[in-house]
Amino acid sequence: MPVRYELIKECKETKARVGRLHTPHGVIDTPVFMPVGTQATVKTMTPEELKEIGAQIILANTYHLYLRPGHELIKEAGGLHRFMHWDRPILTDSGGFQVFSLGPLRNITEEGVTFKSHLDGSSHFLSPEKVMEIEMALGSTIAMAFDECAPYPSSYEYARAAMERTTRWAKRCKAAHHKEDQALFGIVQGVTYRDLREQSAAEIVEIDFPGYAIGGLSVGEPKPLMYEVLDYTVPLLPKDKPRYLMGVGSPDCLLEGVALGVDMFDCVLPTRIARNGTCLTSRGKVVIRNAAYARDFSPLDPECDCYTCRNYSRAYLRHLFKAEEVLALRLATIHNLYFLLRLMEGIRQAILEDRFVEFKRQFMAKYEGDQE
Ligand code: GUN
Ligand code: ZN
Repeated sequence: MPVRYELIKECKETKARVGRLHTPHGVIDTPVFMPVGTQATVKTMTPEELKEIGAQIILANTYHLYLRPGHELIKEAGGLHRFMHWDRPILTDSGGFQVFSLGPLRNITEEGVTFKSHLDGSSHFLSPEKVMEIEMALGSTIAMAFDECAPYPSSYEYARAAMERTTRWAKRCKAAHHKEDQALFGIVQGVTYRDLREQSAAEIVEIDFPGYAIGGLSVGEPKPLMYEVLDYTVPLLPKDKPRYLMGVGSPDCLLEGVALGVDMFDCVLPTRIARNGTCLTSRGKVVIRNAAYARDFSPLDPECDCYTCRNYSRAYLRHLFKAEEVLALRLATIHNLYFLLRLMEGIRQAILEDRFVEFKRQFMAKYEGDQE
């Protein structure tokens, strides 16, 4: 088994749990947030900086790296880890999500997906077998199966067809995957239909993977509906394997996801909003360009001890954004990632000390500003 999940502690009041995911590239403490590095870089950050803020595992994307620079080139470079100079775990998403987001540029058949590149319009074909070839060439620590993520909302018939195809493709992925030091995770689909989620979970678990993702969520459905789907889907997954909620990363959703039994999360949110000047702080979001911060010489978040908050003021950050200086993007990214990684550390510690529910309540009260 290329990865092994070790359950350390369960919360008594929620489904939250602390664990350790042992991988060939090191141990990951869960629940974990995985910064996104779509193009083999977490935008603006060096690997040393990522390590310094405590990133344990990062994401990369099969679709993007296949199109540019190409998986064969990355293999020639010695694999993704060596190519990008990151020696901790990497998870590659399969491209299932990106390809299906292309809309009119793609055509799905049982065999696979034909699509036109968003870069140069060239035609390509991805199948479960091809995606396994690409992910094995990249040499990521965890490879995701090639799935079909149906949009929200989807008709019951469409959701069922996509979910059943995801099961057939998951079997083909497993059959085509042969790399001992790489773990292949299955993905549960089914939109927001309970019986489809149940069928999907049963079928994907039956195939037997070392970890399971819940896909098709955080795609525009209301948050309470996402929580409802998680509430009945997570318990259908084996307790001795990691559970990964794809595409989720706002502080409130991380806390709820953990409470519902999720171990792994990824999202472009912290890095993307950083680059447009929105910062996550213990008292909610700060839109740093606002005139209110022009003469605010206090740190972004007085409770944060990241490099940015230790050394720079809101007024300076605002100035950098207004002047369109590249340092603005770096300083905001460092802070946002640090903030989420510290939140996850706080969550893990709280679960270990039997105070997760109180931690969650206090964090949210302050974050949403209804006290102090
Ligand atoms: N990222 C966010 N949601 C999904 C999903 O459903 N499938 C895949 N492959 N990636 C995702
Ligand atoms: Zn900070």
